[in-house]
Amino acid sequence: MAEEEVKFRVTIDGIPVDVAPGTSILNAARQIGGDIVPPAMCYYSKLEGSGGKCRTCLVKVSKGSEKDPRPMPKLVASCRTTVMDGMEVQNITSPEVVDARKGVVEFLLINHPLDCPVCDQAGECKLQDLGYEHGAEQTRYEFGRRTFERIDIGDKIQLHMNRCILCYRCVYVANQLTNKREHGILHRGDHSEISTYIEEALDNDFIGNVIDVCPVGALTDKTFRFKNRVWFTKPVDAHRDCPSCSGKVTLWYKGADVLRVTGRKDEFGEVEDFICNTCRFDTKQTSDWILEEPTQVDKESVINSNHYYNFSPPPVIKENPVLQEANAEQLARTEKLK
Ligand code: SF4
Ligand code: FES
Repeated sequence: MAEEEVKFRVTIDGIPVDVAPGTSILNAARQIGGDIVPPAMCYYSKLEGSGGKCRTCLVKVSKGSEKDPRPMPKLVASCRTTVMDGMEVQNITSPEVVDARKGVVEFLLINHPLDCPVCDQAGECKLQDLGYEHGAEQTRYEFGRRTFERIDIGDKIQLHMNRCILCYRCVYVANQLTNKREHGILHRGDHSEISTYIEEALDNDFIGNVIDVCPVGALTDKTFRFKNRVWFTKPVDAHRDCPSCSGKVTLWYKGADVLRVTGRKDEFGEVEDFICNTCRFDTKQTSDWILEEPTQVDKESVINSNHYYNFSPPPVIKENPVLQEANAEQLARTEKLK
């Protein structure tokens, strides 16, 4: 008889889920889905070693495990903390977490320019979403922001370090998907910057994926840059017989023109299959593709509805005055959108 698989039970914001030992709290939350999934700006399930850099996924472990129910003394990064049997976790039901996340967003925005209206990533930027959900109206930072010149990484990708949040995802793409390592993070602390070692072109066949994994507008597609706003385009899933990759992509149409090609993204904003540069940059005719169907876009997405995500708080927030206060801004916004 097959041995029964061991599962750990973890409860996140009051919702229990059974997961395999070794699963991170973030991935356990993803198995539940919905609002309780912590935001992740650096973790990327397809990139080994990613996570632990941005702290946006902080959660509170209010009960360590069945065997040792003591709470963890500090908030923990859910992408880097594995579940224990009987663990209880709070995400959006913890005022402490909501407050800490606000602080993290403030730090991420210390050097990031607040120029969403002119940024190519606007409408599909994770930091924009995060700022909308957790950002403060004013910055308390009194010093000048770091600024950099734009750098062309090869002829198809542009890096604008001003917008980089040093999540390392592009570095992992360069390390793990391509066979040349010319790109990394130089210096430390406030001086850290993404560099291609004397700005050498990254001409590898899979390097275009750095554009898809970048959560902000730091790495953009020069063949699409400023051609259109993403919410005016219509995404359609398509595929082709490609010798280098799965050939499964999303085509972004304006009228009959394909303005850009990207990998297909799942509900957590991660690409399902990394695609090659030929699919991404060199096949922009409808005749190059077999069209499948319009891409399923989250109905709350700005791409779909021209307005932002409507925060629907779980009942526990509506019932508890402390939680109501902690989530006051989001609740007010929900009321306005109704
Ligand atoms: S360029 Fe983008 S993907 Fe690379 S570290 Fe910066 S934010 Fe992350
Ligand atoms: S997603 Fe966990 S620290 Fe960045």
